[in-house]
Amino acid sequence: MRTQVGIIGAGPAGLVLGRLLELQGIDTVILEARDRDYVQQRVRAGVLEQNTVDLLREAGVAERLDREGIVHHGIELRFDGEGHRIAMSDLTGGRAIWIYGQQEVVKDLIEAREASGLPLEFECSDVEVHDVDGDRPRITYTSATGEAVEVECDVIAGCDGFHGICRPVVAEAGEMVIAEREYPFGWLGILADVAPSTDELIYAYHERGFAMHSLRSPTLSRLYLQVDPGDDIANWPDDRIWQELHTRFEAPGWSLTEGPIIEKSITPMRSFVAAPMRRGRLFLAGDAAHIVPPTGAKGLNLAVNDVRVLADALVAFFAPGAARSETGLDAYSDTCLDRVWRVQDFSTYMTMLLHRLGGDPFDDGLQRSRLRYATSSEAAAKSLAENYVGLPT
Ligand code: APR
Ligand code: PHB
Repeated sequence: MRTQVGIIGAGPAGLVLGRLLELQGIDTVILEARDRDYVQQRVRAGVLEQNTVDLLREAGVAERLDREGIVHHGIELRFDGEGHRIAMSDLTGGRAIWIYGQQEVVKDLIEAREASGLPLEFECSDVEVHDVDGDRPRITYTSATGEAVEVECDVIAGCDGFHGICRPVVAEAGEMVIAEREYPFGWLGILADVAPSTDELIYAYHERGFAMHSLRSPTLSRLYLQVDPGDDIANWPDDRIWQELHTRFEAPGWSLTEGPIIEKSITPMRSFVAAPMRRGRLFLAGDAAHIVPPTGAKGLNLAVNDVRVLADALVAFFAPGAARSETGLDAYSDTCLDRVWRVQDFSTYMTMLLHRLGGDPFDDGLQRSRLRYATSSEAAAKSLAENYVGLPT
């Protein structure tokens, strides 16, 4: 097989890249390790920033998002039993966020790709990349039916997530620097079959730990609790989860409605940046290169930003004759990392602002002061808001 861009991974990064290149007439093959149901059902993030929505609309894959996505113009920070609204849209000249599950974005992109009849293969195993330092890199894999396949490419996009095979290949060149932070807490997340008890997302700071109230639809709530990262979900029967949520969200005149929990899990939190995001003709995008803690709701949005930059650079690279240019590809890693670090800073800020850090009185004093400042100074609120809705690209 021969293609211009071999894309490894059918998460948001790989699928959005495939769509952007399709619209520019560039050939792609997308190879995914898991089966289709798995990638479409995985419950993950649910906040799309303004830039992401704009890009999905331009790419012609936002029809259902525009119908079913829920636009939000503010968020609530809650502490000491009191809620404080950050009026995001008012503070950012009208920018907003949309609530729409990551797996819904993935479903829409898969559907669009299949409607175009372009190659997207699930259940690929033994995926390996070769010759990335030359100008004919190759991907080899075993197909779902057990056939050994080779794809000859001009460029390979490693969109294979944090546990993928592409980042180690870039690291083998010996120049990769890893910057990383682990946090002494994780998130217990639940999906509950009950109407949300709030119109806007609530981020709550409480002496027993952070809690967040999000949603997926008018009848589906998504809630999170800060827990020990090593904690076992078996220690959290539904009653205990609801009890803890009631305690951490407690505020006069407000109550949380319980409902059947249809999904629950604990995920650790980390920050991670691998640089550079390139080796020769292999380019990393999304979680393959970086992870942010979920407090800023940025993981998917950052992945989409990477592939926007990569798609633009590839259009110049494949341009005919004298218009052809490698400048964009040469700048790719630095351009992406600039935004990655802005988002790392914001995600760390949100994480350290809202999580209980072990009860040290100095940390506690700083956190409360920062919370009061963020909710009383327009300058501080504006800084939070412009990062939350996503700085312009
Ligand atoms: N070969 C083919 N596919 C692979 C391989 C492999 N060797 N290894 C992993 N994959 C697939 C995974 O199964 C997954 O579907 O690559 C895909 C990577 O997708 P994501 O993990 O969703 O990563 P990305 O597309 O970068 O999207 C980032 O995911 O974790 C969230 O918060 C994060 O929302 C952000 C988004
Ligand atoms: C979610 O809805 O899953 C969500 C929302 C906001 C966050 C993180 C996750 O900061």
